[in-house]
Amino acid sequence: MPNRIHLLDHRLSELESSFNEASIEEIHHPVVEKSDIKLWVKREDQLHPIISGNKWRKLKYILNHALVNEYDHLISMGGAWSNHLHALAWVGKELGLKTTGIIRGERPKEESSTLKDIKQWGMQLKFISRSEFRQLRMYHDHDSPPAKKYHGYWIPEGGANQLALKGVSELVDEINIPFDTIVLACGTGTTLAGVASVLPCDKTAIGFAALKGASFLNKEVSGLLGNKNSNNWSINLDYHFGGFAKSNQNLNFFMEDYEKQTGIPLEPVYTGKMMYGLFDLIKRGMFNSGQNIISIHTGGLQGKSGFQA
Ligand SMILES: Cc1ncc(COP(=O)(O)O)c(C=O)c1O
Repeated sequence: MPNRIHLLDHRLSELESSFNEASIEEIHHPVVEKSDIKLWVKREDQLHPIISGNKWRKLKYILNHALVNEYDHLISMGGAWSNHLHALAWVGKELGLKTTGIIRGERPKEESSTLKDIKQWGMQLKFISRSEFRQLRMYHDHDSPPAKKYHGYWIPEGGANQLALKGVSELVDEINIPFDTIVLACGTGTTLAGVASVLPCDKTAIGFAALKGASFLNKEVSGLLGNKNSNNWSINLDYHFGGFAKSNQNLNFFMEDYEKQTGIPLEPVYTGKMMYGLFDLIKRGMFNSGQNIISIHTGGLQGKSGFQA
């Protein structure tokens, strides 16, 4: 008789096999067409309608580790629009695991659509002050103090740990066209670290920070990479648009035009800023002639409705 862990592990593999392929599409847009570079987007947003983008990549081996170690309760932290908690709540429901989300700030009078979804999927919500939330950011190990306090398996904000790197690195292996540079959006820098961990030294990765004043990310990414660190990645800090989850007319016009020209949706927190930054660098001739660039669509479209509201 297969035991519970075996069944859950099997369920994890089953889940993955139900995912769509993240296709790679060439971008045809006047800005790109005028330049002498070629641009593609890897549509990680299409992996799955709910756990899309970099979320599955980051959670896959974390979930596996939790299951192998017989945990039945997953705990993590995030804001009221967190894509990470949204994904975790859904996958917890699918696997029949308890989930707890520790949310930054007071319980809002009107819950975000993200919070409504995650509650409906059974995640317990705990609202804590911003200063307590900042403290929690220091814990990365699955059995660190918050795990003991809430009796479960601790996953750091954004799934930022070594296991996430392994999952993210798999998306690089799937790229089956010749390329020179990979570009993607950065929050915690984990996705960039995952890509950089397997990138051949003749290729580069550029992360676009969604946060203002995010130079600390260089240290975070180096730390995550440990002895796999090399000098073929960098973080561009210039396209934060005033800070995390801030936007302006320029960004909105850009996203509207991009969506019209390409048919590919963006959201303003991560992928919109990344694409805006990339297009700006292309217009300014910052890439060598003939470069092949792959941008990664890391998903996050679930939070878009809230942003528009
Ligand atoms: C849609 C989206 N793109 C990019 C990122 C940035 O990923 P990371 O935190 O791994 O840098 C996030 C946050 O996890 C995200 O939700």
